[in-house]
Amino acid sequence: MSNFFYRNFKRSYPTISSAKGVWVNDTEGNSYLDGCSGAIVANLGHGILEINDAISRQLSQVAFAHTSQFVSQATLDLSKLIVDLAPQQLQTGARVYFTSGGSESVETALKMARAHFVERGDNNRDTVISRKSSYHGSTAGALSATGHPARRKLYLPLLRAQPQISAVYPYRCTCRTQGVCNKAECTLKAADELESAILAAGPDKVMAFIGEPVVGAAIGAAAPGDGYWERIRQICTKYGVLLIADEVMTGLGRLGSNFGLDLWGVVPDIICLGKGLSAGYLPLGAVLASPQVVESFENNSGIFEHGFTYSGHPVSCAAGVAAIDYLKQHGLVARVASRESEFFAALKQLFKFEIVGDVRGRGFMAGIELVADRQTKQPFAPEPRVSQLVRAEAAKVGLLVYPGSGSIDGINGDHIMVAPPFTITDQELEELFKRLEIALKAAMMSVMALR
Ligand SMILES: Cc1ncc(COP(=O)(O)O)c(C=O)c1O
Repeated sequence: MSNFFYRNFKRSYPTISSAKGVWVNDTEGNSYLDGCSGAIVANLGHGILEINDAISRQLSQVAFAHTSQFVSQATLDLSKLIVDLAPQQLQTGARVYFTSGGSESVETALKMARAHFVERGDNNRDTVISRKSSYHGSTAGALSATGHPARRKLYLPLLRAQPQISAVYPYRCTCRTQGVCNKAECTLKAADELESAILAAGPDKVMAFIGEPVVGAAIGAAAPGDGYWERIRQICTKYGVLLIADEVMTGLGRLGSNFGLDLWGVVPDIICLGKGLSAGYLPLGAVLASPQVVESFENNSGIFEHGFTYSGHPVSCAAGVAAIDYLKQHGLVARVASRESEFFAALKQLFKFEIVGDVRGRGFMAGIELVADRQTKQPFAPEPRVSQLVRAEAAKVGLLVYPGSGSIDGINGDHIMVAPPFTITDQELEELFKRLEIALKAAMMSVMALR
């Protein structure tokens, strides 16, 4: 009997033994093609020796230093590398706060937003607006801003109620379904909800708006139409509200750009990072604060009243430096951008399966929504969970995909995400699509058998 506290005690999990490139092996001798980079984390692939070496070099020098006592060279180097990748407007004066993962990054960003205003003598602003159908992390602050009812329900008594505007979910845009708006109007209508929410909450109460540039796990790679983020930026600026980009999943190349919001030329005030920052080699997250936010602290108390023991961990930061070096040296952001259309063209072949309702996303982050009726977009019943069925069928043929559910209203809606490491070869991509077809076909057969 194991003493490990499993995610799901009713499921059995294979024991991983090794991994190299896009291939992951278990102790039973099974090999899996990692079609989702773990949980969209292992963006560079597994077993990169340069990163392992950088980690051991740092380990042999010093493993731990507390940021109340020291700063390490790895931490300084990584801060600079991150700022260098950021939009030009952030290059001078931005600073980076380190965490151990995405939830801590979001938690930090929210506290940073609050502290920024208090430092400026504005104690009134304490409200963060977010969107329905979004995921920002599992800690209390991050979960309060999250718009995924199933993940929040149990913990509602611990969470803070805050305004949430509509999701950006083009496939299920209500006014388009009703035939009363077109795509562009739908996009701007969703963005304009932010202004109404700010006015309703009181413009002097709102400190920040947080959103994922392209929504990840909660809807499955739902990208807004052009104009959405530009309008959101305008509204935030108009009311002095900070724009927090949750780039935990989208940051550092996943969408074929350094940061997700780069796709629309939008510059946020705070950027949250995690996952791809160390590409899974060690736990690591970061928060980039714009010069304007940094100045609030520098010009006032000088202190951000916040901290984690492992913030700026030298070994994690060394892993981050090596991961970004690898990303740059191999031109992987450009590689993702150049492969994007081929990647989606191949995924669109999956429409031959009736259960595929939508194929969407950007870069190497794709969501495939599974529906009971493609014509009406009717979702499957919540049980059995069709996304889990596809995941299980994929695992049987040695393929890892990332399932998600509850995208429509927290209960209904199934999707899977396909988001391979940026280093996947064309041959491996072909293998991925081949296995995915087998898995979808098998899942479709079992769904039909249940009808
Ligand atoms: C957009 C986004 N924000 C925050 C998080 C939380 O990150 P972590 O699980 O590393 O705490 C996630 C994790 O999936 C995420 O996708």
